[in-house]
Amino acid sequence: MRKKIVAGNWKMNLNLQEATALYNELNQTNFPNDVKIIVAPPSLYLSQFSRNQNYLSLASQNVNDNEKGAITGEISAEMLSAINLNYCIIGHSERRALFNETDAQIKSKLDLLLKNNISPILCCGETLKERESGNASTIVLKQISEATKHLSPEEFQRVILAYEPVWAIGTGVTATTEQAQEMHATIRTYLTKIIGDNSTEISILYGGSCKPTNAKELFACKDIDGGLIGGAALKADSFIAIANSFS
Ligand code: PGA
Repeated sequence: MRKKIVAGNWKMNLNLQEATALYNELNQTNFPNDVKIIVAPPSLYLSQFSRNQNYLSLASQNVNDNEKGAITGEISAEMLSAINLNYCIIGHSERRALFNETDAQIKSKLDLLLKNNISPILCCGETLKERESGNASTIVLKQISEATKHLSPEEFQRVILAYEPVWAIGTGVTATTEQAQEMHATIRTYLTKIIGDNSTEISILYGGSCKPTNAKELFACKDIDGGLIGGAALKADSFIAIANSFS
């Protein structure tokens, strides 16, 4: 059975005091047993929070695509592993757009994470223009395949996918359940072609203006296994409500 997952991506939000208060509140919350709860705070806070992982698992929002070296300001997969991190977001559309990250870099990040026993949360998603021109699934499947086509089925099982239509991120516009389920099913069909029966074990999260008012409907879809939450993850009550949205 694949895991149900709710992951919060705090992005570059919350000062230390606010982040600590939110982390502590979530870490004391009794989440449903069958839902894996992950939070991705700004990297500066990871080391401190990692000493206190109770109900929560921690993710990094990023990792460098090189093993180590003279790369000022960056963090390696080995460093994340040394503080017992189990997850790392890669391929987020903000990093693709703002930092020009390429599929090749995302693949390198994925490989380094797996080598260091960290599960990548690999994001994919089309822009509005790509959707309107009818290319959404081609773009999404290309982003996934460029990063993962070399993996064995066993390696692939350690990857979590997150479908995040770019036009829905931070905009308040959510994909309809039909649009989301349709893309998740397309991804699952692709996975079945690539890794056979193992595809049923891969969690595919939805991200993009997911909130307490739409999470239930989204999570009820056959191929949606949870959410990657931005804005609504910054408040304990909305994040907890989303985590309680599985039927
Ligand atoms: P959002 O962000 O929930 O604020 O739309 C989602 C994400 O970027 O992962």
